[in-house]
Amino acid sequence: MTSSNSLRGKVALITGAGRAGGIGASIAEKLATLGCRVVLTDIAETGMGLGDKKELETRCAEIMNALESIPNAEAGSVSSAICDVTQEDSVAETCAEIYRTHERLDIVINNAGIGFLMASLMDVSLEDWDRVLNVNLRGPFLLTKHAAPLMIRNGQGGRIINIASQAAKSGFPHASSYVSSKHGLIGLTRVSAIELGEHGITVNAVCPNHITTGLGSWQNSYFSDLLGQSEEAYLAAMRERIPLGRPGKVTDIASMCGFLCQDEAGYITGEAINVSGGEEMH
Ligand SMILES: NC(=O)c1ccc[n+]([C@@H]2O[C@H](COP(=O)([O-])OP(=O)(O)OC[C@H]3O[C@@H](n4cnc5c(N)ncnc54)[C@H](O)[C@@H]3O)[C@@H](O)[C@H]2O)c1
Repeated sequence: MTSSNSLRGKVALITGAGRAGGIGASIAEKLATLGCRVVLTDIAETGMGLGDKKELETRCAEIMNALESIPNAEAGSVSSAICDVTQEDSVAETCAEIYRTHERLDIVINNAGIGFLMASLMDVSLEDWDRVLNVNLRGPFLLTKHAAPLMIRNGQGGRIINIASQAAKSGFPHASSYVSSKHGLIGLTRVSAIELGEHGITVNAVCPNHITTGLGSWQNSYFSDLLGQSEEAYLAAMRERIPLGRPGKVTDIASMCGFLCQDEAGYITGEAINVSGGEEMH
């Protein structure tokens, strides 16, 4: 993978990018270092697994600091916006505001997700089911619906990347809503790729395995409890079954997104690409 400057001046919206150590912030930093003007968005609410406004602003400041070491002519710029991906008005307004400010929108990274409402299938409340599906599947649908016309308006194609999961390919216990939402996201990716291909917009899903982010550490604790193991033993078993011998890092996902956004990846669409150290191979 090269780091050509094909992204210089492009505008990228990343959802759910506010949390420390999260995948979204890492993708934002990667795209900014490749020359994008990045807009980090998040729900800006306090609560379990949610990034608040202060966190979002801190992430922007961190990325701006990181950009300082890059020559001005190469680095992009960073800003933030509040966007609840489950609300159509919020999504539509965020996309429109970015277009008004930058006069273009080239890249959307559907990263926002919740993965902490786990329970056995027979105990999942309808409310929790809907909450997970709304963030993980309705959100990417709304972003695609409202961003695609703006990409088409500029006539220069675009990139939509849906951050799915290993759970988009395999089932896991106590994760019916999460697994269903991520499997659904692959379906959305395929249909979007078919419908938007004629406009030069590629749509792909990236499927990470485990990464110890805020969401990931909650899952470590939940699943090690479920299996009656210490977290240490749970993580050791995980390392054992991953051919490359370690869980993922946020930068692994950011690198794949950086590649998919570049001109070199312009013939790749409708794919669900594993970035899982070989743990998931289909
Ligand atoms: N960490 C992992 O092991 C792992 C593995 C596979 C896939 N993923 C996926 O990667 C993505 C990022 O997860 P992460 O691990 O960085 O977790 P994270 O908790 O750091 O990030 C999730 C973000 O989604 C945001 N969010 C939640 N509800 C929202 C809403 N209604 N509107 C806007 N934003 C909302 C949260 O505020 C948070 O910033 C998720 O889609 C997740 O499913 C994570």
